[in-house]
Amino acid sequence: MSTPIPASGDPSGSMAAHGSRLDPHLARYAARTHGMTASEIRALFSVASRPEVVSLAGGMPNIAALPMDVVAATVAEMLSKRGHVALQYGSGQGDPILREQICEIVGLQGVHPHPDDVVVTVGSQMALDLVTRIFCDPGDVILAEAPSYVGALGVFRAYQVDVEHVAMDEHGLMPEALREALAMLAKQGRAPKFLYTIPSFHNPAGVSQPAERRAEILQICQNAGVLVIEDDPYGLLGFDGQIPQAMRAQDADGVIYLGSFSKTFAAGIRVGWAVAPHGVREKLTLAAEAAVLCPPAYSQLTISTYLSTQPWMDQVKAFREVYRERRDATLESLEQHMPEGTSWTKPDGGFYVWLTLPPGMDATAMLPRAITARVAYVPGTAFYMNGEGRRSIRLSYCFPEPDRIREGVRRLAGVLEEELELIATFGTAIGAPGTHGAGAPETTAPGPEVM
Ligand SMILES: Cc1ncc(COP(=O)(O)O)c(C=O)c1O
Repeated sequence: MSTPIPASGDPSGSMAAHGSRLDPHLARYAARTHGMTASEIRALFSVASRPEVVSLAGGMPNIAALPMDVVAATVAEMLSKRGHVALQYGSGQGDPILREQICEIVGLQGVHPHPDDVVVTVGSQMALDLVTRIFCDPGDVILAEAPSYVGALGVFRAYQVDVEHVAMDEHGLMPEALREALAMLAKQGRAPKFLYTIPSFHNPAGVSQPAERRAEILQICQNAGVLVIEDDPYGLLGFDGQIPQAMRAQDADGVIYLGSFSKTFAAGIRVGWAVAPHGVREKLTLAAEAAVLCPPAYSQLTISTYLSTQPWMDQVKAFREVYRERRDATLESLEQHMPEGTSWTKPDGGFYVWLTLPPGMDATAMLPRAITARVAYVPGTAFYMNGEGRRSIRLSYCFPEPDRIREGVRRLAGVLEEELELIATFGTAIGAPGTHGAGAPETTAPGPEVM
């Protein structure tokens, strides 16, 4: 494993002042880059992408389920009818027709904005970046679930924001834990800039907040004057076909809603959006223009043409089936193979299952041994800012074929059995061949392949 190079300002790193042979610009970097270091698991994922390894690590949508002839025809039609617009700069807020179509889509979740309230972004990842940029100064604190989306944590880290994690149970973020976190911050004289939450088909936890819980969380936030950022890329991907009502449906002023076409059409198109109260929308647009001038017109018009010419909801239903089949394969094989003491969530939609390992196990230390056994996962530590999560694993079932998933879970169960034997014999699995030890908490970025 390579050791991260200390960034400039590192009090212990004399290299910081002078640069290094690897990076002569080391001393020049802004303080905000200090948290931007690649994690050790990033290196392991280059090995995990080998064909013999079953990767249950990456959250890549299953693009094979999208008919490419339909996409090709859509692009051809878009270019012939609106090519001169698609290949030009556009509005910083996004294409007006697409914003109207987005209003229809979010209407399925009880959200009824005006198209003026919508800002189109480069994936919802950019919306997360913009929201953090306009609300947070370095040292500010925000609240986020424990665990939380790794890409959001990367943004918070980049803006030097402190994250206070709020515990979850099988129904998502716990209202009582939220009250406690708010009280604890109040005692310290700190007010969180916002609560970041993924209420539907959570990444990585695979759980959803029932309607009553959403209402309770909103009530707590309203009472405390806390803005809510609702991140919802999986809302249409519920396996029972029910579409959960968004939190934003209950509170248009106190919630910024983030959506995406990455999971319902294609991630490579990089189109997402934010629905925001009027003043916030204004600031988001200005921040977006500073970052990218305008979201790519080509992508926006492609998705807009697709929505107006194709039965896009049928494709969403096809995606749901693809993911439901894979969820079933995952849960069945976990039930069949996992050793006693292991537990996991039972997702009703989305891409992920969250595993809790038996006491004494360390998912980060175990990863090299799992990869040697030709199965990859993301250790829980990637989803916390504070080094927690060592006994947890995220499994993504979205991409591999069901038979590969079964084989991957079988291999993983074998690794767990061996770990348990080591623990039974030596009292710990740390120190076994291939272990790199349970040292400092893992709080660095694992890379886009694990999103
Ligand atoms: C919870 C969550 N938010 C945001 C994103 C980013 O998605 P996009 O492709 O729209 O940028 C992801 C991607 O996996 C995600 O899981």
